[in-house]
Amino acid sequence: MPQQTASPSPIGQKTPRVDGPLKVSGQAMYATDFHFPGLLYAVPVEATIASGKIDNLDTAAAEKMPGVHAIFHRGNIGKIFRSTLGAGFDGIVDERRPPFEDDVIRYYGQYIALAVADTFEQAKAAADVVRATYIKDKYNVDVDLKPDDEPDVVETSFQPTKRLESERGDPDSAFADAPVKVDQTYVTPTETHNPIELQATTAMWDGDTLTIYEESQGIFNLRGVLAQMFGLPKENVRVVTKFVGSGFGSKLWPWTHCPLAVAASRQLGKPVKLVLSRRMMFQSVGHRPRTQQRVRLGATTDGKLVSLHHDYVNHQGLLDGYLEDCGEATPFHYSVSNLRVHFGRARRNVGSPTAMRGPGAVPGLYATESAMNELADQLKIDPVKLRVLNEPKIDESLGIPFSSRHYVECLELGAEKFGWAKRTPEVGSMKREGLILGWGFAGATWVAARFSAEASVQLRDDGSARVASGTQDIGTGTYTILAQLVSERTGVPLDKVEVILGDTSLPEGPISGGSMVTASMVPAVFAAADNAVASLLTVATKTPGSPFEKRTSKDLSFGNGKVFVTADGPGKGVPFAEVLKRANIRLVPGHGKAEATFGIPKPKFSTHSFGCHFVEVTWQPEIARLRVNRVVTVIDAGRIINPLAGRNQIEGAIVMGIGMALLEETHYDPQNGAPMNSNLADYMMAVNADVPSAIDIHFLDYPDKEINELGARGIGEIGLAGIAAAITHATYHATGVRVRELPITIEKLI
Ligand code: MOS
Repeated sequence: MPQQTASPSPIGQKTPRVDGPLKVSGQAMYATDFHFPGLLYAVPVEATIASGKIDNLDTAAAEKMPGVHAIFHRGNIGKIFRSTLGAGFDGIVDERRPPFEDDVIRYYGQYIALAVADTFEQAKAAADVVRATYIKDKYNVDVDLKPDDEPDVVETSFQPTKRLESERGDPDSAFADAPVKVDQTYVTPTETHNPIELQATTAMWDGDTLTIYEESQGIFNLRGVLAQMFGLPKENVRVVTKFVGSGFGSKLWPWTHCPLAVAASRQLGKPVKLVLSRRMMFQSVGHRPRTQQRVRLGATTDGKLVSLHHDYVNHQGLLDGYLEDCGEATPFHYSVSNLRVHFGRARRNVGSPTAMRGPGAVPGLYATESAMNELADQLKIDPVKLRVLNEPKIDESLGIPFSSRHYVECLELGAEKFGWAKRTPEVGSMKREGLILGWGFAGATWVAARFSAEASVQLRDDGSARVASGTQDIGTGTYTILAQLVSERTGVPLDKVEVILGDTSLPEGPISGGSMVTASMVPAVFAAADNAVASLLTVATKTPGSPFEKRTSKDLSFGNGKVFVTADGPGKGVPFAEVLKRANIRLVPGHGKAEATFGIPKPKFSTHSFGCHFVEVTWQPEIARLRVNRVVTVIDAGRIINPLAGRNQIEGAIVMGIGMALLEETHYDPQNGAPMNSNLADYMMAVNADVPSAIDIHFLDYPDKEINELGARGIGEIGLAGIAAAITHATYHATGVRVRELPITIEKLI
């Protein structure tokens, strides 16, 4: 017998995207790529005031325009119900009000009408001639955020939340008595998600069943919300999302254009497609809200933290309960006996904010890590050493151990790779080739957990496998990860694994949010594969003439794609395709389900990922030119299933972080409340020219077995945590200017 050699495990291999060929050949079907006979196009009409009431809406001219089927408004759109929050990830919406529910305008760009026509151009032309007059009210887009008067427990998009987020010891006296103090306020501006793919809905009805094509990060939640809004049982709604051109959180929860397309399609009895403009993307599908965060640190003269206060405010709209949870990481990041984290919110006439990549922790860590750097500089202690001095043994907020925390090792490895020991701390003291260098540092952390997840796996008589789950690939690599997982568990080579995602007719998968899809899918896919194998073994024992006919499935094993008698070892294994063919069975299916760990009461372990960034900027004071020149990032995110896709996630986050630190800011026009830089020319993001070629990323790769069997956590968001603080720190080192209000515009440096 030839020696059996197990093929190498696909886990941990740099695996190119299995869906890459579809994307580069233009065959990947994004939400707006689906066309249907009789399809009509819808274009919303946007309010041009930020607060008030519609006085009169004149649609007469628009209705007579060529190709126009209808101009919808409050009077003729038909009933759209409110949805309400359910248990778990059900019924989540940031802007709860259904479109057209009343005549009140609460933010600029709120939809007031909808033009539907044969072509997009006709619909746009008609939308442009709808005339509204308003009774205007005072509006507020003020950027100075004082907390509104709210009760101690407030409604949020998810559940009622205590404004006193975390507290231990006596932070007030500890701060008062501390020999060394930092007391600073940090501001992050409104940032707008700018995925290249615009948000869009294509809706069609067949009797009382509804099908939606939408680029959603959470198709099951969208299905549930639409079922409520249109008074349907869930099973009458199907949502399809095959590919997503990025979301960054803006596509997590349903927005008002979606029920508008659904309602228009219902009224007209035809499929309706509605694609937002880039301007609408700034108005009505969420943004990261402005935050104002006061951080107070008290420390001993040798750098031990004795108190930490984190008091923050985020803006919210008038129609939502959005909380930007800036205190997410504060209670456990460092060891400190006296701590308080407390938030408030300030209502403004803006569209609802929503989660944006690393919601809460990203602006939060900008503030707390900046304060730690200021403390280090004040104490003349190395900022990396300050973190090591305050490394906690357990999660001090919950009083439980971390499942797997290697933060100090991140710092040590990063410092070594960056050459941090050569840093001279004095401002402007480092130079190279006529440029002033600034070296900065900050730590990172992001929650790790699992959502509940289901998957199905089939093993088929041609030796192929199919895995299906109603989760989404938002560009992060979920298709590829699922192929790797099935290949690992079944021995089917990657190119023979078919992956099907993005359809509510599939087993219920998790939202593509919180960097949790991979961690959530591992146990579900493995269970599904194991159940398919169990069916296969039963088939093997029941097939007349099979070499396993006289056996029971207990005698049998499965490995590397073959069935074998356990006692005989894998050498005499039979490929599963042969077992199935002999039985005249096309496929054996298996279903797998895994429970959530996210949000469970009384967890035994505190589960988070960790990391850090070391940044070099160059500064040319003569021409006021600041560039990020070099980044070293170390990430402790458990087992990395695909280091290629993983590196890509962290690189993307660092590029976004350069934008956050230097460029991104949505401005609301004080004259009318409109987001005024609402296009890709005026809203600055980091592009190739802003990004250094030297982005050096290292993964520690310690499996976290509390999360799942493989020990994989998530990597979608952590790369953006802390990076802005590292860049402002480097900027201070180069220029002597502490920028406590992002972005670091040139005016702030000269
Ligand atoms: Mo992310 S903000 O959880 O899409």
